[in-house]
Amino acid sequence: MLDLEHVTKSYRLPGNEFVDVLSIESFRMDAGERVALIGPSGSGKSTLLNIIAGIIRPTAGTIRILEQQLDQLPEPELDRFRARHIGYVFQSFNLLPGFTALENVLAAMRFGGIVPRREQRKRASELLTQVGLEHRLHHKPSQLSSGEQQRVSIARALANRPSLVLADEPTASLDVHHASQVFSLLVEVCRANGAALLLCTHDLELAGRLERIVNLRDISDAGKEVG
Ligand SMILES: Nc1ncnc2c1ncn2[C@@H]1O[C@H](COP(=O)(O)OP(=O)(O)O)[C@@H](O)[C@H]1O
Ligand SMILES: [Mg+2]
Repeated sequence: MLDLEHVTKSYRLPGNEFVDVLSIESFRMDAGERVALIGPSGSGKSTLLNIIAGIIRPTAGTIRILEQQLDQLPEPELDRFRARHIGYVFQSFNLLPGFTALENVLAAMRFGGIVPRREQRKRASELLTQVGLEHRLHHKPSQLSSGEQQRVSIARALANRPSLVLADEPTASLDVHHASQVFSLLVEVCRANGAALLLCTHDLELAGRLERIVNLRDISDAGKEVG
């Protein structure tokens, strides 16, 4: 369902200098697969997730998701494609501060346009129930603990029945106990909803809970230094 070939990324620095951060030879994921992507800080994990999400364009190479080649989509269609097929869980949650938990999930559904309008409220509360927040539907982010905020963002990531969930160090801002709980929940909710999961982490213990661990170094072009 995900297929990367010869994907590179160089960032342009002020003064016309370039910094090469990624050079992936090939990387694939099957439907429903759960993969931990590991690599030290600065090795390009976030860059890779953002490229897969179509948030940033690669310098070269092809990315196919569900047979769709991302570079063939113009910007507005890319936004729609992402909203429909990809869920994103950020390290820092990125919830809308003025909206309740329920409204945060609903906002993602309205933008996605996949779930019929009359089913949206029901699905949003079901997802929040799946993450254990049935008693917090009408709380705003500032009224929730960090672990609860991340659970809202997991529910939001699943809003449009995505085929792929990307999670960028989703538990890094939680304490050890909550990190472990939220991690299990994320894996379970993806499984229950039939979504593949690609999760970046530098926590090897958490990574070890997924079926497959991929070291960024091992999928990078031989001889090229990453990070
Ligand atoms: N917009 C940018 N412009 C220039 N360099 C960047 C930019 N974003 C990230 N980098 C550099 O790319 C490298 C990889 O960053 P990142 O993908 O965030 O790594 P990771 O998530 O593994 O810590 C780092 O060296 C970082 O400084
Ligand atoms: Mg990162």
